[in-house]
Amino acid sequence: FSDRVLHGKRVVVSAGPTYEDIDPVRFIGNRSSGRMGFAVAGAAARAGAQVTLVAGPVSLATPFGVARRIDVRSAAQMHAAVTEAAQGADIYIGSAAVGDYRPSQVAEHKLKKHDGADLTLQLSENPDILASLAARQPRPFLVGFAAETQNVENYARDKLQRKGLDMIAANQVGEGLGFETADNAITLYWADGSLELPRADKAALARQLIECIASRYQAVHG
Ligand code: C5P
Repeated sequence: FSDRVLHGKRVVVSAGPTYEDIDPVRFIGNRSSGRMGFAVAGAAARAGAQVTLVAGPVSLATPFGVARRIDVRSAAQMHAAVTEAAQGADIYIGSAAVGDYRPSQVAEHKLKKHDGADLTLQLSENPDILASLAARQPRPFLVGFAAETQNVENYARDKLQRKGLDMIAANQVGEGLGFETADNAITLYWADGSLELPRADKAALARQLIECIASRYQAVHG
């Protein structure tokens, strides 16, 4: 960026999956690689922001220029880390694939099989990190992600409204796009507009995403 569009802004980015432990050796996770979020954190740093990256369990190097990285495992840990890091932040970009549920109890010892009987896991809902930030005042400019397999625009706009976000980045998952892939294609939605970012590698998309976030942030905050 020649114009350092986020110069001096404090930006918090969450990235990667969360792991919800079942017992000492098993967990419930998801297929997020963290690559999109890490690219976004790197692009924000290059745009002059002071970036805190809250990362779920991924094996990715911290992007150049990112000021602070907090590694977490579960949604509860991510919630606590983001809540702390977002204090006084200007922008929060929630690209993490936060697990919706966690086992209600974490077994102290490895679970054993029981003669072919079914095993029932009871799950409890995790806190919604974005929605909890949206409920605070003052709050950062909030950007969410929506990974959908169908009805992308409807679900994304619904999420924008329901969670009280400023912007949502929606991508269709599947066909070489989305999770565990190098490329992505994103459409950004905000209350009275949208912008389509066609298929590109995640670094290029992250740069365009940051440019759009910066211009919307300017429009809202002057
Ligand atoms: O509703 P859904 O999980 O699809 O929304 C995705 C967006 O919400 C992402 O930006 C994700 O980081 C955020 N999210 C969250 N806390 C949750 C679940 C999702 O912040 N518990």
